[in-house]
Amino acid sequence: MPPEGRPDQDPNWWRDEVVYQVYIRSFADSDGDGVGDLTGIRNRLGYLELLGVGALWITPFYRSPMADHGYDIADPRDVDPLFGTLDDFDALVAEAHELGIRVIVDVVPNHTSTQHDWFRAAITAGPGSEARERYIFRDGRGAGGEQPPNNWPSLFGGPAWTRVPDGQWYLHLFAPEQPDLNWTNQQVWADFERTLRFWLDHGADGFRIDVAYSMAKPPGLPDVDLSLLPPPGVLASADGRFEIEGTHEVHRMVRKVLDEYPGRMAVGEIWVDDPEAYARFLRHDELHLGFNLRFISAGFSAEEVREAIERSQASVAAVGAPSTWTLSNHDVPRQVSRYGGGALGVRRARAMVLVELALPGVVFLYNGEELGLPQADVPAHARQDPMWERSGHTVSRDGCRVPVPWQGDAPPFGFCPAEVEPWLPMPPEWAQLTVEAQLEDPESVLSLYRSALELRGTHPAFAGAGLQWYGAPAGCFAFRRKDGGLICALNASTEPVPLPPGELLLASGPLVGEALPPDTAAWLV
Ligand code: GLC
Repeated sequence: MPPEGRPDQDPNWWRDEVVYQVYIRSFADSDGDGVGDLTGIRNRLGYLELLGVGALWITPFYRSPMADHGYDIADPRDVDPLFGTLDDFDALVAEAHELGIRVIVDVVPNHTSTQHDWFRAAITAGPGSEARERYIFRDGRGAGGEQPPNNWPSLFGGPAWTRVPDGQWYLHLFAPEQPDLNWTNQQVWADFERTLRFWLDHGADGFRIDVAYSMAKPPGLPDVDLSLLPPPGVLASADGRFEIEGTHEVHRMVRKVLDEYPGRMAVGEIWVDDPEAYARFLRHDELHLGFNLRFISAGFSAEEVREAIERSQASVAAVGAPSTWTLSNHDVPRQVSRYGGGALGVRRARAMVLVELALPGVVFLYNGEELGLPQADVPAHARQDPMWERSGHTVSRDGCRVPVPWQGDAPPFGFCPAEVEPWLPMPPEWAQLTVEAQLEDPESVLSLYRSALELRGTHPAFAGAGLQWYGAPAGCFAFRRKDGGLICALNASTEPVPLPPGELLLASGPLVGEALPPDTAAWLV
């Protein structure tokens, strides 16, 4: 038996875990600079234990000039002073493990920061140098090379190329401060492997792999058909800017490293809409898990949600990987707002989390969703997301990144000291939504999450991977976990409907007599 309070030794823990995503800037600020940090997370581990999650995914906390808030990395094997020190990371992991909570860190193989030593060396060394080979530098088109080497747009909007003073151009699929690495260069492979081992040796239980479909680029970097590309803000589906086969090779390397560390895992960010292409990332020698685009993109509709569940289940079944379920993250609008906002959005978000937590596989929650936070209306002058400028003021991810409100009746709600401005302004009306305001209220969103997580973690009805669908009225669905027997019913129609037979375990809102009202879900056994 493992020592009490430590994560158990089950090497397959990642197949049915509930993982809580901490957007580090916005979770808890321990040193009073208005930005969350590692010790802030450590100080709040008791809350995460109370909530009932089994693992954390922490967004990048490495050395970075923060052009994309940490996804532009200057040194992937050191902690940025804004977030603390390596000792703070070690202390966080040790304490999380004491509480039985695992820690997943975010790695970014596609690009570095322009402040990375390699990129600075590439600029100094000039065209044709070995230093430039680690990135994707090309001469421009046109007589004087004054046009970009191809027509690729960046996923953040604007061109994917920036020209340097000696006339060459470098590729950046994201912001100009995020130059793409050249994954045909052996040093790039070796360095990434070193980074993986570094964090594994520091006790990380796994990795979230940023834009895990993007590393390899098609030979010759041909122009793409611009009419086939998604608009900025739809982070991308497979398109001509990616050469998927080469990227699979990278995942095989990652898997080999992880296989040396039993019980560690990798989950990839795979915004690839073709289910077969998605599943190929989850073959036995590649990623353990992949984020699932369909579930997060489905509207509040029984048909869309059921289709997302069935397609996701079918695609992973082919490769024997578990499904994953996510309703929000730091890149998409919060679900309360997506589902209609206000009281309606909250009712629907409550219903959808019961659907999500009833499903077999792995659930990723995003900090603040357990409080029912809506998308915050961040004033234009306060916006920080690089996408805001690059998309011509059409897309900003700031509204889902506003800090978590902990306590008190005025901003910054205990996120940072009262006299300090949090890095994004917090809406005063969130006084009703703080952890403190919700903790003892049995009707709160937080109480619903706690009850649901406790049942999911302890009740035998959640066993097994198979699902069976029941016939249901239009706009509704009901499924049953084949092995454990849990029944989950969702009413996304406009009329109350009869509940399936069984004993009620939990409902996302009050029932109407024996009936399930609109915008409500229930668990039965
Ligand atoms: C991923 C991250 C996103 C980041 C981008 C570039 O999509 O989730 O926040 O901006 O990669 O690293």
